[in-house]
Amino acid sequence: MMKIKRIEMHNIRSYINEAIEIPDGTMLLEGDIGSGKSTILMAIEFALFGGGDIDYSSLLRIGEDSGYVELAIEVDGKDYTLYRELKRNAKSGKIEHKTCHISSTAGRTPYSATEMKTAVLKLLKFREPKNARASSVVYRYSVYTPQEEMRIILENKPDERLNTMRKIFNLEKYSTAADNARTAAKNLGTKKEVQQDKLKEEPDIIKKKEEDEENLNLYRMKLKDNEAKKEKLESDISDTDKEYENAKKKYDDLKMKNNDLKTHQKLLLDKMKEKDDKVKSIERRINTVKELQKQTQDIIIPEVIENVDELNSKIDDIIKEIGNIEHMKGEKTGIIKKYEDMTANGICPLCGREVYQGEFEPKLKDLKKEYEEINTKASKLQDELKELKQRRDHATKTREMARQREDLLNKAKHEEEYIAEAQKDLATINKYIQEENEIINRLSGEVGGLESADKKLRDIERKKRELNDMKMKLEGEVRDAKAHIDETERRLEEYGRKFEEFGKARQKVERYSNLISFLQDVFIPALAEAEQSIMVSLNREMNELVSSWFAKLVPDPMKEITIDDNFTPIIRQSGYDMDVSSLSGGEKSAVALSYRLTLNAIVNNYVGNVGVLILDEPTDGFSKEQLQKFGDVLRDINSEQIILVSHEAELENVADRVMRVEKSEGVSHID
Ligand SMILES: Nc1ncnc2c1ncn2[C@@H]1O[C@H](COP(=O)(O)OP(=O)(O)OP(=O)(O)O)[C@@H](O)[C@H]1O
Ligand SMILES: [Mg+2]
Repeated sequence: MMKIKRIEMHNIRSYINEAIEIPDGTMLLEGDIGSGKSTILMAIEFALFGGGDIDYSSLLRIGEDSGYVELAIEVDGKDYTLYRELKRNAKSGKIEHKTCHISSTAGRTPYSATEMKTAVLKLLKFREPKNARASSVVYRYSVYTPQEEMRIILENKPDERLNTMRKIFNLEKYSTAADNARTAAKNLGTKKEVQQDKLKEEPDIIKKKEEDEENLNLYRMKLKDNEAKKEKLESDISDTDKEYENAKKKYDDLKMKNNDLKTHQKLLLDKMKEKDDKVKSIERRINTVKELQKQTQDIIIPEVIENVDELNSKIDDIIKEIGNIEHMKGEKTGIIKKYEDMTANGICPLCGREVYQGEFEPKLKDLKKEYEEINTKASKLQDELKELKQRRDHATKTREMARQREDLLNKAKHEEEYIAEAQKDLATINKYIQEENEIINRLSGEVGGLESADKKLRDIERKKRELNDMKMKLEGEVRDAKAHIDETERRLEEYGRKFEEFGKARQKVERYSNLISFLQDVFIPALAEAEQSIMVSLNREMNELVSSWFAKLVPDPMKEITIDDNFTPIIRQSGYDMDVSSLSGGEKSAVALSYRLTLNAIVNNYVGNVGVLILDEPTDGFSKEQLQKFGDVLRDINSEQIILVSHEAELENVADRVMRVEKSEGVSHID
């Protein structure tokens, strides 16, 4: 509930500086035309809402650069001071409305002009239609209607009025709720469609699931089958491996023996060759021995063999003798020569005596005889030497032959020894050969199986390869089957999740459907009904009130006032609707006043007790009788505070307090 406690005006219209304390109860402001009564009411509205369709710039006193209004009010027991200032811009000359604030025990809060209006509406709990140009529609309808606009209320368009009423009485909340419910239903419809869309996939997924389950069984069977096959195969492989190992051992053994055999064969060959060589060598040696024996037989050696050394010594002696004799021969020859020369020359070379012919003849004869003797001896010695040499050579030769024979015999002996040795060797070789032959025979018998062992080994190897190939193929199939199973299981899990989603979607669809039908079939109609029932009761209450006010003010039983569904006042006379314009001035004022009072009462009932009622010249055109009735009406109004402007002295006794407004030299004052 609001009460107005004080207003202070500074340079506002006809005021320069005035503070007015406003009491509880009914206050009457009286004064001459143009004295400054309406200005106070305008200033109150300006302080609260910042002007509205009153151009606030016109409030600033002409010729002044700044002014303000400060309004003290009480709302629900708490005090607030509202301050608004008007300032003329020095440059543009325009009047600005900038500095605004609200003070309370909590402190002072500055606002912009429009922010402050919102704050005040909130404070007063007024619900206003959006973008209302009026200062406050609630205030205008229920608290204060400017003097000139009193009757305009009646002429408002019905739908505007209806909207305003709905706003004031917060009936919009029903249609807003219904709109919201419709929006919600629509959104739910969209959501439901989304969920239904999800469900469209379901039959397809069911079919896929069935297919996959069937496939999964097939794959699992195949996997089991393949795993069994694999196990069997692995056992086969293990058997084959063992078989192979055995075969390989056998083969290796045979192979080794075969190598042995070859070695022995080679050895045998070597030995055979050795034997051959030995035999040949023995044969050769035997021949040699035969040859040597033959050679020996060919050498015939005399039984006596002269000593060569003795013969040589004899020869040496004879040669010496021959030498001596030759020497003597030379001497004899020299002497002979000397005598022959002396004879030839006739002079002795020694003594130079003359030699005669024949002097030395005898001598020479002797000498020659001597020489002849020596010479004969020399020849004899020569013959002897010749014979000795022959004998010596013969002896030498014989001795040589004996030695040769001896050599041959030695050689033969040597050969024979060798042959004996070789024959011993040969026996050893033969023994060896015999042994080798035995070994070779034995090995040959054993090695006979090598080829077949090799073939067997190769067969097993091939078998192994085949088995391994089969195993690999099988493993591939097992892997494929497993991959298929995994993939299918994964898909089935996914389907499971999808089915969960489908379940959820189905639940959601059901829930949304329920909600939508609740909203559409129950909630929205209920809202409309609720609104309708409030409207009906509002209307009924207003009808009662307005007709009672009107009946009091216009004591004409022919005329009655009702309020229709659009909250439009309807005047009826003798059952016929009348146009408001055709009413008398007093009747018009009465209709307007009744309607105002009705609204004020209804707002106080439904919206919250505003507590103040401001009436500016409500009795314009009233008869004296009507004025009296108005006095009664005022007393009937159950309002905490009434500010009434009137120049009717009649009303003084109705007021708890009368204030006189006077203006002198263009400046208003309050008494
Ligand atoms: N901006 C202004 N500066 C100075 N005076 C102004 C301004 N605006 C209006 N006035 C004058 O202020 C005076 C007071 O006007 P107001 O409307 O308050 O008179 P009133 O007492 O309500 O008169 P009425 O009984 O005729 O309704 C008037 O003379 C008016 O011309
Ligand atoms: Mg006035």
